[in-house]
Amino acid sequence: MTKPIVFSGVQPSGELTIGNYLGALRNWVKLQDEYDCVFCVVDLHAITVRQDPAALRKATLDVLALYLACGIDPNKSTIFVQSHVPEHTQLSWVLNCYTYFGEMSRMTQFKDKSARYAENINVGLFDYPVLMAADILLYKADLVPVGEDQLAHLELTREIARRFNNFYGSFLTEPQAMLAKSARVPGTDARKMSKSYGNSVLLGENDDGIKKKVQEMYTDPLKIRKDDPGHPQGCVVFAFHKIFNENYKEREAECKAGSVGCVFCKRQLIDALSAFMKPLSEKRAELMGDKAYLEKIIKEGSRKARETAAETMSHIRKALKF
Ligand code: TYM
Repeated sequence: MTKPIVFSGVQPSGELTIGNYLGALRNWVKLQDEYDCVFCVVDLHAITVRQDPAALRKATLDVLALYLACGIDPNKSTIFVQSHVPEHTQLSWVLNCYTYFGEMSRMTQFKDKSARYAENINVGLFDYPVLMAADILLYKADLVPVGEDQLAHLELTREIARRFNNFYGSFLTEPQAMLAKSARVPGTDARKMSKSYGNSVLLGENDDGIKKKVQEMYTDPLKIRKDDPGHPQGCVVFAFHKIFNENYKEREAECKAGSVGCVFCKRQLIDALSAFMKPLSEKRAELMGDKAYLEKIIKEGSRKARETAAETMSHIRKALKF
């Protein structure tokens, strides 16, 4: 029996964050046995903001190493690099012609990013969701595991697939978003975690980095002295405890009772985060030391991905009588 298809991707833009892990990688690992999984490093999306080419190449390998270090298994899942499969840009052009300016103008990520990168509001940045739709539709994905911030893009993908199918018969699959169960992890300053705000905890952060990030974390402003009763719900440190510390209920009770202070609570979190990061960092460093192995995985994965992508693209060409 054929398994449902899962597709997802992460941009190789600098280091990945704990948010990427919780919203994406952690769930991907769990899906590998039940689904036919295709995981991509989306380097074409990354160039919507300026990149140093050598750094982008290194980041692409690094994301791949992190996929593997987190437990994505190349024997179970297809792992590949977007720019190695030219069908992504080919389909993206076709889909551009079936996507309306009005619906694209409503995409909030474009609004956010164009405010952040005001010196480089390029057409690629605007068109980003159509390339994402092409990624997903090429593999006829049934499910797309993503974080909340990508839901609007998934809805657009479904709309484009429906529209295309209305014109040419139903051969594109309308994908469903698969939302990560964990709560969204905030940045150290309690805003959305984003590399551009400088409030991210990075995946594979070393001990000094973890210490610094935890020390920066906003806590309950009403808990001034150690014995003031705290409000864990609004506290960034507690949001992390809930995810990374199995004894988080104890931390919650102590905080509410005012029996411990924020310094103690932060120390506990530093230990929990270090224990989580250590094996991941070690595995990633080991993989980054074996570039030939990483290149081999990319080559094999991209060849496999291309077989499926070429087949879909051939259907599209036939539908358009090209
Ligand atoms: P990217 O690279 O920004 O993020 C990768 C994944 O991580 C999730 N994520 C989070 N989840 C929970 N909490 C957070 N703080 C957090 N930060 C990031 C994102 O929701 C995402 O799932 N457009 C995509 C990449 C992409 C893609 C695709 C994804 C391109 N083509 C096709 C799925 C299918 C993006 O920018 O992800």
